Amino acid sequence: MRAKLILNKDFPVGKVDERIYGSFIEHLGRAVYGGIYEPNHETADDQGFRKDVIELVKKLNIPIVRYPGGNFVSGYRWEDGTGDKTKRPRRPELAWHVIETNEVGIDEFQEWAKRADSQVMQAVNLGTRGPEEARNLLEYCNFPKGTYYSDLRRANGYEEPFDIKVWCLGNEMDGPWQICAKTADEYGRIACETAKVMKELDPTIELVACGSSSLGMSTFGKWEATVLEHTYPYVDYLSLHSYYGNRENDTKAFLACSLEMDKFIKSVAAICDYVKAIKRSDKTIYLSFDEWNVWFHSNEADSKLEWWQTAPHQLEDVYNFEDALVVGCLLITLLKNCDRVKMACLAQLVNVIAPIMTENGGPAWAQTIFYPFMHASQYGRGIALVPIVKSDIYHTEKIKEIPYVEAIGTYNEEKRELSVFAVNRSLEEAVDLEIDLRDFENAVLTEHLVLEHVDLKAVNTAQNPNEVVPHGKGNTEVNASLATAVLNKHSWNVIRFHI
Ligand code: AHR
Repeated sequence: MRAKLILNKDFPVGKVDERIYGSFIEHLGRAVYGGIYEPNHETADDQGFRKDVIELVKKLNIPIVRYPGGNFVSGYRWEDGTGDKTKRPRRPELAWHVIETNEVGIDEFQEWAKRADSQVMQAVNLGTRGPEEARNLLEYCNFPKGTYYSDLRRANGYEEPFDIKVWCLGNEMDGPWQICAKTADEYGRIACETAKVMKELDPTIELVACGSSSLGMSTFGKWEATVLEHTYPYVDYLSLHSYYGNRENDTKAFLACSLEMDKFIKSVAAICDYVKAIKRSDKTIYLSFDEWNVWFHSNEADSKLEWWQTAPHQLEDVYNFEDALVVGCLLITLLKNCDRVKMACLAQLVNVIAPIMTENGGPAWAQTIFYPFMHASQYGRGIALVPIVKSDIYHTEKIKEIPYVEAIGTYNEEKRELSVFAVNRSLEEAVDLEIDLRDFENAVLTEHLVLEHVDLKAVNTAQNPNEVVPHGKGNTEVNASLATAVLNKHSWNVIRFHI
């Protein structure tokens, strides 16, 4: 099969906001306890954080991490996780039916993020709590000194304010599973008033309002419009969440789920612009795709979990090779929409539906999905170029007109680097991808990285962590202003050029 990709500097999608390579740590399962934090582990640092995990996180180059939930945040009392560790309360946690020990809280997570070279995207509880507690938390985190909560932070050993820029106004408040879920009007009102008091206290912050918890919600669309009608002047982003799975073992359809993500993004952008129009506003609301991933492998095991354990094995999806291809397609889709999507969080980061896994007292390793994320985060910065792709297509029962080749290029002028990310969705055939480089004179091939495996269901494990890893032996030839890259059947490719 043949396909073609035309890239031109004069046709940018937009500048890639590096925060699209964000991730997420929730107090859930072993994400925190046994994931990032394990004081008795041989690699633990002075605060009990696993250094082996931090090293892997750093490889992903994650600029922002959403915290502390997720469903968890809707019942969270942030004060529980501050002050003397020996006096912190153990509480039944109602979102995931576990015991929360509060050994790690706001202060420790700030410290962890610093050590992982990242920033925190902080969520506030708009389930059991409201504007008062959100403003207190903001005062604790961002106010310099001389007030009750800022001085409490200082007394707890954190002299300098955390200066957290991005705040989420609750989480998935439309979901019946959410602690104290709300109707769109109820949520819109409380989000509006919370946003107002928070911005009165610190006008430099950016706020994310909750969109629908998925495209499948019956209230989707109306929810977004109503919430924005209440909050438009006070918020900066609307959230999108989406998880994908190959429940029917139909790989061809599964590989096409990024087309649904694309449709979702475009629909939400259209709703934001509808509210912009009726409000006669000049302000554009941007999108924060702050939960996205593959999530289905662990569903059955989780339904059998015994309640009220501490840090159980929960949502521990073991990702296979085809999941990595899907994550690659989803990353390309985020890049294709980077004019509107300014933040995105791979949900999540460690142990819980995560690219990084650990064994308690044992090793940490990278799952298959680690690699496309690492490549995109490392090389997909700068300007995303409008991808003009000519590719054969295929159809599935649900989704039609699926191009075999999903691709995009990013141009980093500062580094003089052009990176092409491409997935070949074909399960049968290689594709010769012609990349038109006429706008990039003297492009020199740096490398062609490939993630491939004969077995779509191959996985990495603690015992065999290198079963699915990328190699640099991709076949690309450059001839004048044309590069021809061989995209092997079902493969993820990164073709890098120096300009
Ligand atoms: O990421 C796991 C869960 O998925 C989050 O807690 C919730 O927001 C979503 O439903």
